[in-house]
Amino acid sequence: MSIPLQDIAAEQSLHGAPKSASAGPPRFSDREWLAQRVGELGEWFHNLDLNGVATAPNHFLGDFPNVKWKHIEPAIPRDLTGAVVLDIGCNGGFYSIEMKRRGAERVVGIDVDDRYLGQARFAAQALGLEIEFQKRSVYEVDSIPGQFDYVLFMGVLYHLRYPLYALDKVVQKVAGKLVFQTMIRGSEDVRQWEDNYHFWEKKIFEDARFPCAYFIEHRYANDPTNWWVPNRAAAEAMLRSSGMKIVEHPEAETWICVPERVQRDGHFIQELELNGTL
Ligand SMILES: C[S@@+](CC[C@H](N)C(=O)[O-])C[C@H]1O[C@@H](n2cnc3c(N)ncnc32)[C@H](O)[C@@H]1O
Repeated sequence: MSIPLQDIAAEQSLHGAPKSASAGPPRFSDREWLAQRVGELGEWFHNLDLNGVATAPNHFLGDFPNVKWKHIEPAIPRDLTGAVVLDIGCNGGFYSIEMKRRGAERVVGIDVDDRYLGQARFAAQALGLEIEFQKRSVYEVDSIPGQFDYVLFMGVLYHLRYPLYALDKVVQKVAGKLVFQTMIRGSEDVRQWEDNYHFWEKKIFEDARFPCAYFIEHRYANDPTNWWVPNRAAAEAMLRSSGMKIVEHPEAETWICVPERVQRDGHFIQELELNGTL
């Protein structure tokens, strides 16, 4: 189910795309016009190549997120014909665009930030790609009907006060694979832990490899929306605890997972937890 480009353009004007000196019919092949519109859409976090115009050429992480994608993309099929994709926290649309370029039938990108959504809509239009961008929080992901062949949940977890609550919702949307990325800090070593420990066993908590998420009370990297930053062991443990099986780890911060035990006795883990019956 896809939306024609003219409808996307109409929706963009309905959502109040910023008025600009370059208002008027789009001139996507005119680099000067493109560069002006890119600038008017605010600071970009995603560096996209829009017909020769880079949206974030001076990104502090380099050519971001291309630098990440080049490690992740071999783990995603080149041909996604017929696939339906959900990109949670889509930002300027980089990953949505890459999935659409691989032939996905339907790509839905959601984000809470109007600036990023405006950028993503503009980028998709400039590249002639039909992608649905919606203003919606990960916490409302269960209001999107159906499940998806690919769910991308990248760069969002550590921005949430309620990370596991969100992850337990996200896994319910995965019919095929989850592509999960989080900032990690602390130990990147993992080892096998016992399923259970005695109440007075305290030493395990001194081991940097024990699953642990650092709580950021104020700010990290000047960003007050960074809340919980897991170490590698915690990121992997949370995925498993939400019922996912890790099948690939294409780069340090990214895991590809399939649903393994997201339901127990026909009920999702979140439902059981919220009912007090997990
Ligand atoms: C660090 S960026 C990651 C962007 C992109 N997914 C990536 O990996 O490059 C975090 C994104 O998550 C979005 N975000 C933050 N809280 C969110 C929420 N509750 N629901 C959906 N998106 C959210 C932000 O607006 C931002 O676009």
